[in-house]
Amino acid sequence: MSTSQPPHFSRDDEATQECQALLSTLPKEKTRLITLHKYQVRGVLACQQHFQAQDTDILLATTPKSGTTWLKALMFTLFNRMHCRPITNDHPLVTTNPHDLVPFLEFDLYANNQVPDLASFASPRLFSIHLPFTSLPKSVHESACKLVYLCRDPKDVFVSLWHFSNKLRPQNLEIISLEETFHKYCKGVSFYEPFWDHILGYWNESLRNPEKLLFLKYEDLKEQPRLHLRRLAEFMHCPFSAKEETEGVADEILELFSFGNLRNLEVNKDGNLSAFFRRGEAGDWKNYLTAEMGDQLDEIIEEKFYGSGL
Ligand code: PPS
Repeated sequence: MSTSQPPHFSRDDEATQECQALLSTLPKEKTRLITLHKYQVRGVLACQQHFQAQDTDILLATTPKSGTTWLKALMFTLFNRMHCRPITNDHPLVTTNPHDLVPFLEFDLYANNQVPDLASFASPRLFSIHLPFTSLPKSVHESACKLVYLCRDPKDVFVSLWHFSNKLRPQNLEIISLEETFHKYCKGVSFYEPFWDHILGYWNESLRNPEKLLFLKYEDLKEQPRLHLRRLAEFMHCPFSAKEETEGVADEILELFSFGNLRNLEVNKDGNLSAFFRRGEAGDWKNYLTAEMGDQLDEIIEEKFYGSGL
């Protein structure tokens, strides 16, 4: 899901020959809006083939609607706080949307099969990605680059995604049915792979290789923001100094990029960008799904995550 433009999804007629050959072999479900392919979207191949991770890179991995925008703001600020402090009105995040500061590899940089020159990006580089763990470019596994994964209650993710899709749907299309979309979500129809596989792929790697992958939960970040911001800063090799602790820098960052403040920045109010900020709460699903729907998803979650420790 890209930046100031509505998300642009893969269509067979726009894909390269190689991409088309691959797409034709994949299971797909038609929706009224777009064709969702379980394992392939535009830009993925280019990203897999050409992205060269550097040892100092950090990649934020998420399923759409897990809080990516928020974490992009926090990670960018953590990395850049030395030369962008004190946090003032000319801070890059006050003038630029988080998605432009921490671009998606497959949706932004490698979209349309373009191969960007990323050498000009200052190191350490921050990128984000929605790709499943098993589909990450080879260089991500082979380099010492790090991954941060943000996971969110799939019920809230579903509701957020449903709202987002409706908000950005072409005006001539009817509202997308919540029930129909829910049914597909429970069957595992998603951008890349079923949400449970996406989460488990990264979760299992975080257990195998905690130095490489930090697994965070949206709900934890909401409940204990300071604690998890510190964990994040340590993982990113930019821990808060004693002086910063005394000065309350962590709180300053959290306050500046709280949901209300981030949403109210002029730069984030523009057209489609406002769609990235809705309620920003944990448990909002209760306002849209019936108790039965909630139970149904909980059962799926229980079954799929059984024994994983999640
Ligand atoms: S995307 O398209 O994948 O980049 O979307 P993503 O940013 O992952 O998810 C959007 C949801 O995150 C909420 N949001 C926030 N929550 C808490 N704090 C902050 N600062 C914040 N910013 C965005 C946003 O409102 C979407 O969730 P819902 O539940 O729809 O409100």
